[in-house]
Amino acid sequence: QELKLSLEQIEKGGYEHFMLKEIFEQPKSVHDTMRGRLLVDEGVIKMAGIWDHIERFKNANRIIIIACGTSWHAGLIGEYLIEEYARIPVEVEYASEFRYRNPIITDKDVVIAISQSGETADTMAALKLAKEKGAFIYGICNVVDSSIARITDAGSYTHAGPEIGVASTKAFTAQLTILTLIAFKLGKHNGNLGNAEFMSLIAELDAIPKKIEDVLATTHDLVQNIAKDFVHATNFLYLGRGYNYPAALEGALKLKEISYIHAEGYPAAEMKHGPIALIDENMPIVIIAPKKGHYDKIVSNVQEIKARKGKVIAVVNNGDTQVREMADYVIEIPETAECFSPIVASVPLQLLAYYIAVYRGANVDQPRNLAKSVTVE
Ligand code: G6P
Repeated sequence: QELKLSLEQIEKGGYEHFMLKEIFEQPKSVHDTMRGRLLVDEGVIKMAGIWDHIERFKNANRIIIIACGTSWHAGLIGEYLIEEYARIPVEVEYASEFRYRNPIITDKDVVIAISQSGETADTMAALKLAKEKGAFIYGICNVVDSSIARITDAGSYTHAGPEIGVASTKAFTAQLTILTLIAFKLGKHNGNLGNAEFMSLIAELDAIPKKIEDVLATTHDLVQNIAKDFVHATNFLYLGRGYNYPAALEGALKLKEISYIHAEGYPAAEMKHGPIALIDENMPIVIIAPKKGHYDKIVSNVQEIKARKGKVIAVVNNGDTQVREMADYVIEIPETAECFSPIVASVPLQLLAYYIAVYRGANVDQPRNLAKSVTVE
């Protein structure tokens, strides 16, 4: 019997869509992004782009992170990371806003641009502006030799490999990996991150690819089943706190991009300032509630949601009991330091968006009206 495979089928490596393939590649893409940079045994993070310009980072008044879309969400987590571990003030801006609002930039600023494609027009324009004002420009791009990679003074490539699905998945977790390495490297260097904590954090970072692998193995079927119950949903809320607030934004973005269901991400504590008015028995709420990171506060958010009959899909740590008792659906992920939890928690949220979109018959890899890289304004 003749076996005929199209080039596209071969490229998809047996997966139905590029997006699913890319979700499953994350143990490898995160590992590849750390390879040669994270030397756990030696207790070293090697990043030439940072090291060659360490004085610029050390003397920076602040770091401004510029990006769009999913890369902007990675930037928000970068702010938490760099402020916590390196104690350098960070601002995160949408490139499109930054470029038109006459921002104050000096030669004491370091600008970090995050872009999967390296071709996003707004990000490029914002960088040109920052460059004109004398800022030092650092790039975090996935595509080698892309326009943004070329205009930056230095940078680190995410080694996630080509991302074909329009909805970004593995590029996002690779961006988080680079931002984590940068935060730890700067913190170690400027003395804000002590050696013992540095050593334990990098050992844990090294274990993240394995944790992603475990999450994929243990949640794939479960999330697929959960998705079936929400095919006809018209709205979704995503809530998280701290590091997982941007993870909630990203979870909501994934869902709206590919399933066309309206979804909003919110910091969990802001629920009472608006979204709570929307909660009834028809509102699904995805809540990211790992043990480390304001757990008790989130427990009370879940109580408030359940009192209004909202449907709770909770992402919790293995063995969780408190949220489990109240939640309608529970997705378990392994425990990590809080700063790594968005990397791990994002994986089941990507799967949830993916399967809801698949069951709705949507074109997952090429959602309507969206482009992989937006090279026009
Ligand atoms: C488009 C893509 C998104 C991406 C955003 C920024 O909207 O559809 O997936 O996050 O652009 O792209 P960049 O390549 O700069 O990360």
